[in-house]
Amino acid sequence: MNSDQVLKNIAEDISSCKKCELNHSRDKGVPGEGPTNAEIMFIGEGPGFHENMQGRPFVGAAGDLLVELLDSIGMKREEVFITNVVKCRPPGNRDPAIEELEACNSYLDQQIQAINPSVIVTLGRFSMGKFIPHAKISEIHGQSIRVKGMLVIPFYHPAAALHRPSLRSVIEEDFAKLPTLIKGAARIPEVQLKEHSENNNNQAEQLSLF
Ligand code: URA
Ligand code: SF4
Repeated sequence: MNSDQVLKNIAEDISSCKKCELNHSRDKGVPGEGPTNAEIMFIGEGPGFHENMQGRPFVGAAGDLLVELLDSIGMKREEVFITNVVKCRPPGNRDPAIEELEACNSYLDQQIQAINPSVIVTLGRFSMGKFIPHAKISEIHGQSIRVKGMLVIPFYHPAAALHRPSLRSVIEEDFAKLPTLIKGAARIPEVQLKEHSENNNNQAEQLSLF
């Protein structure tokens, strides 16, 4: 099966998925969108009000800011693949629960496999946590980290900048670095991440590798 077909099948599966509680609050599933051969994948948290209505990712206020930030580095949303860690809207935009993240994870893994992007930009802590458990976004935002062969760059979530104006310039600066980070992608070495069960000392050790 080619990658286009794989992505189409994933989107279809999501529209009728009942693997977690979020299926009850879903109007439209939001699988994500973008070219199958996208070089960059942006992964947010989950659909909000507008996304749930339209079945498309990042079409509300956070999406407007994402488009503006992409524009600031000469990129268009149509060039990148945009998705979320959960594909259905958590009621009232609450945080996704661990069981929901786990239930939905295989869709995202299949999308990453089909698209095989050079760079994954995570937006916010839930998406960062999929790749770099335990990390603090305030400490590692804007740094590229190679995890299981994938180059992951954690950014703050654009919605965070809307709620906390002081973060706005931080996100702008991280986006400004993105073209350079992408160019240097091949030179970033793999880091060995410790397992969830490790204690905080090891965690500090792990983060010092970045
Ligand atoms: N916030 C997200 O994390 N994802 C969306 O799709 C929209 C807003
Ligand atoms: Fe299925 Fe994911 Fe929606 Fe849960 S959030 S119902 S796992 S598609």
